[in-house]
Amino acid sequence: MKTIIEPFRIKSTEPIKLISKEERIKALEKAHNNVFLLDAQDCCIDLLTDSGTGCMSTAQWAAMMLGDESYAGSNSWKKFEKTVKDITGIKHVLPTHQGRAAEAILAQTIIKKGDIIPNNSHFDTTRANIEYVGGVALNLLCDDGLDTSSESLFKGNMNLDKLKDCIKEHGKEKIPFCMITVTNNTGGGQPVSMENIRDIKEILKKYDIPLIIDACRFAENAYFIHEREEVCKDKSLLEIAREMFSYADGATMSCKKDGLANIGGFLICNDDQWAEVFKNLLILREGFPTYGGLAGRDLEAIAVGLMEALELDYQVYRHATVTYLSDRLIERGIPIVRPAGGHAVFLDAKQFLPNISPLQYPGIGIINAIYIEGGIRGVELGSVMFGKFDENGNEIPSSLELVRLAFPRRVYTQSHFDYVVEVIESVWKKKDQIPGYRITYQPEFLRHFSCHFETV
Ligand code: F0G
Repeated sequence: MKTIIEPFRIKSTEPIKLISKEERIKALEKAHNNVFLLDAQDCCIDLLTDSGTGCMSTAQWAAMMLGDESYAGSNSWKKFEKTVKDITGIKHVLPTHQGRAAEAILAQTIIKKGDIIPNNSHFDTTRANIEYVGGVALNLLCDDGLDTSSESLFKGNMNLDKLKDCIKEHGKEKIPFCMITVTNNTGGGQPVSMENIRDIKEILKKYDIPLIIDACRFAENAYFIHEREEVCKDKSLLEIAREMFSYADGATMSCKKDGLANIGGFLICNDDQWAEVFKNLLILREGFPTYGGLAGRDLEAIAVGLMEALELDYQVYRHATVTYLSDRLIERGIPIVRPAGGHAVFLDAKQFLPNISPLQYPGIGIINAIYIEGGIRGVELGSVMFGKFDENGNEIPSSLELVRLAFPRRVYTQSHFDYVVEVIESVWKKKDQIPGYRITYQPEFLRHFSCHFETV
């Protein structure tokens, strides 16, 4: 077998440092046991997110120098718009400063109080934007997607029967649009098949309900389709992406992921009336429609990055890095979501710490333990991020308790991941010493970013 190597060499480096264990303990205490509140320089390997943390290519840096900072109609905007249309085939393109700005514009113009928005799994900002305007964010993930040990190939698929039932129960008037998140970040970075996207569209078409793709990781999803869906194996990733978007009426995008950029996003749609109302709010909140929330140089970097993300050798390498870490954790008996996702390895915190109940946040226990052990920062995707409250104020745990180790794009090398394996293995061997946590402070929305914890 041919060894897969990085399809790039490194031209610029950035130092990282491991502070002492005593310093890490102190830093975590100061951060109220919430790794979001740590100083980044106190994290040696930062796997908090794959969002905006990637390494840009020489082609992207060169393009940035061409940034046209004209307020209206800049050349950089034209390149950005052309690239987005080339990949998606969708008519109207609105640039935003990041993905959640696109979500906010969509939610605030289209969703009415009490409306239902189905998705395979809503990301936390998507859910928060929907709930903020009084909508209900419904997750209709397939059953395999909830089984962390199932080796199914498309665990991000939506359950089509649940979608049909949802439309029957609520009626199309209550469902202004349906979403599908590719890949399914909150369910382990698992892909959605072309067949599933096509079937969702077929169902929605009967009721005239638009389909919006949450496209943050569209290129990684295209790669999974290329590898796993027989009929697509001879197509290029660009052709696959085009077909995915051909079933959609619009999309929200965070270019901080598969735009290979440090900032940026967009909202796209085919409907002229939607585009008009989006544009009005865009001007109010983000900026003039030819730059949105972005500088001309950002538009340039994204235009190049979106196409680089669709290069096959880049995706082969990307997937190999995730598989490298996941295979080594599986060898050591450490419970993870299988098969490996597109942008991250997800530890199964329920299986890792079966003695800690979901409402004592086993994911936070693991996150904090791996930070103290080796200065590695991950993120909880479990009851802290997705927990809800019933009408009596009782907390309802999330169906999955995961710890995500996200892979910044083109940033860490194999020896960095060997170190990650060592640290996690060491925590795994001492797992009985990991405590549960309780929350001592939380804001109303998106509590995981800023809440405080203490050990139980
Ligand atoms: N949708 C998905 C599936 C996401 O993963 C994210 C961001 C967003 C929307 C929002 O995009 O950050 O540009 O506003 N995910 C990051 C993460 C934050 O760490 O997974 P944004």
